[in-house]
Amino acid sequence: MTVEQNKANPLSMFPLLLLLRTSTNLHQIHQIHAQIILHNLPIQSHLLSKLADLRRLDYAQSIFNQITSPTDHSWNSIIKCHSLCIHSSQNSLLFYTKMLTTHVRPTNLTYPFVFKACSTRSVIVEGEQVHAHVAKLGFSTDIFVGNSMIDMYCKSAKMGSALLVFDEMTERDEVSWNSVVSGHVFVGEMVEARRVFAEMSVRRNAVCWTALINGYGKEGKLVEMMGVFLQMLVSADDAAPNSATMVCLLSACSSVANLELGRWVSVFIDVNGMPSNMIMSTALVDMYSKCGEVEKARRLFDGIGSKNLVCWNAMITGYVQQGLLVEAIKLFCLLRDDSLTPNEITLVNVLSACAGLGALELGREVHLYLGRNRLDLNVILAAALVDMYSKCGRIDDACLVFVKTRTKDSALWNVMIQSLAQHSRGKDALAVLSQMEASGAKPNDITFIGVLSACNHSRLIEEGRIQFSNMVMKHGLSPKIEHYACMVDLLGRAGYLVEAVELIRNMAVPPDSIIWCSLLSACSIHRNADLADKIGELVLSNEDPDLGSFISLSNVYRSVGRWSDVARMKQLVMEKGLKKPAGCSWIELRRGGVHRFFVEDRSHSESKQIYDIHHSLINQMKIEGYAPNFDLLPKNINSM
Ligand SMILES: *[C@@H]1O[C@H](CO)[C@@H](O)[C@H](O)[C@H]1NC(C)=O
Ligand SMILES: *[C@@H]1O[C@H](CO)[C@@H](O)[C@H](O)[C@H]1NC(C)=O
Repeated sequence: MTVEQNKANPLSMFPLLLLLRTSTNLHQIHQIHAQIILHNLPIQSHLLSKLADLRRLDYAQSIFNQITSPTDHSWNSIIKCHSLCIHSSQNSLLFYTKMLTTHVRPTNLTYPFVFKACSTRSVIVEGEQVHAHVAKLGFSTDIFVGNSMIDMYCKSAKMGSALLVFDEMTERDEVSWNSVVSGHVFVGEMVEARRVFAEMSVRRNAVCWTALINGYGKEGKLVEMMGVFLQMLVSADDAAPNSATMVCLLSACSSVANLELGRWVSVFIDVNGMPSNMIMSTALVDMYSKCGEVEKARRLFDGIGSKNLVCWNAMITGYVQQGLLVEAIKLFCLLRDDSLTPNEITLVNVLSACAGLGALELGREVHLYLGRNRLDLNVILAAALVDMYSKCGRIDDACLVFVKTRTKDSALWNVMIQSLAQHSRGKDALAVLSQMEASGAKPNDITFIGVLSACNHSRLIEEGRIQFSNMVMKHGLSPKIEHYACMVDLLGRAGYLVEAVELIRNMAVPPDSIIWCSLLSACSIHRNADLADKIGELVLSNEDPDLGSFISLSNVYRSVGRWSDVARMKQLVMEKGLKKPAGCSWIELRRGGVHRFFVEDRSHSESKQIYDIHHSLINQMKIEGYAPNFDLLPKNINSM
């Protein structure tokens, strides 16, 4: 559409421009657009620029297409609009290239968005080419252009190039310095970040202080982090900490579970009356729950009005990580009622809670939910589903999910092997390992925990020996305590006690009580009290031997009828005051929810009826000819 200036009525144009500048919604913009067409006003480029700010890509593109000879202003707007829309950022490079073919020259406002597009797509090669244009066209000294190049190089971890640009700048502002400091932080060069920070010739604003604090926090260096924070409070820069600063402090506390410091930060926020926002509240919920103060986290959580999904996820994840699985699931049910749509983080946590509780019904619901909502069954969710089905006793469903997931990563291969191992499907686990190797995925040490545990559970002794040696010789992995534990168990149970002892002797890591206990349990199966005596000496000379070792020793002596030694073990346990934690189980209820109960638990309001039914079931089983075989159970402390 060509615009004839003389037809335009300036009186109708200026109020419209003003309106355009302040409008924020599409409805207003449509009306303004109608006026522009009606009165044939030459202000399309202003409309375009507004649409770019509002990231209305399709609309902006259609306006741009109608402009017959776009000015630099219009080119810049369309480049900007594409670069702000993540999935379209490559198009801003395309339009930049097109612009170069016209007679319109790029300006200093063209480049920041071209470089932004290069950094979001990390296409640094193209970024470097554009850098060359900048030098040729003489924009190198422009502070905006310079800052955007530094930003691009930092985000691509090219600190050397970033520093070259920085050094060549004739003028620098806070943004230039901040970018360099954050760049060093981003690539983990804290010493360099600190050095640049100290050299800064401009005021160090809160963004810059926060970048440094964030860097130390991410490295788990809380002492240094707090040092910088305290410096910030007293510095002449007069840069008051803001909510972003507090979020950095809190997430550092949460990642190393430092409750004391987390509390201090929380008090600091209250005392200084810092206005709370969703991100900071979520960081507090996250900190308290990761530090084990789940109830406090929940109180904060309940106090937050209209929570977003990130906040819900923080609380649900907190429950799962602290093992409060029932609470996690209850909260998930509330989330569903709250009409928020769960995302991958939510569902992975819920599936992990279902796996821990054996809550098959809910787990299946989550699976169906994924299908119904056409959510991509990505590899992370697939691994969570495989784990859930397997732990809920449905290995076939687990296999089905596994087979249907086309692109597999090593975590998914590993969880499948582990699941087959737990279901004593040793041969299948080994078959999956071969598939994994054939697919080109590299087995890691976790894979071999699964493989060896599969051999152990399925009594595949020769296979176990072969895989243990493959792990070292073929894959160059060094066995960890978990691998030895499987091998010792496998060999010991099969009666290869000498070989098991030899393996322990050659261990690269010192044996732990799990290893000794499995060797002792092999001794009791094979009634080898001599070996048990030797192990006993070793284990009991330890400063605080654990209860398991006493139980295992006692079981060996019982197996060979050395009753005085059984009594001696019991005596030692009493002297040391060792106690066994109460056993605990869960049951999923049909009408929803999960109930948890302990050994000899009488806390349930209907416990009398429950125990009555339990007794009648036991009687029924006896009538049917079932005789429990206590020999296979580990003897517990009560029977010692
Ligand atoms: C861009 O260049 C123009 C003209 O050289 C100059 O007036 C303006 O200040 C520059 N803008 C920025 C943001 O650098
Ligand atoms: C080895 O297999 C047995 C029998 O299935 C099991 O009880 C034991 O926990 C397994 N040991 C290890 C270290 O996985």
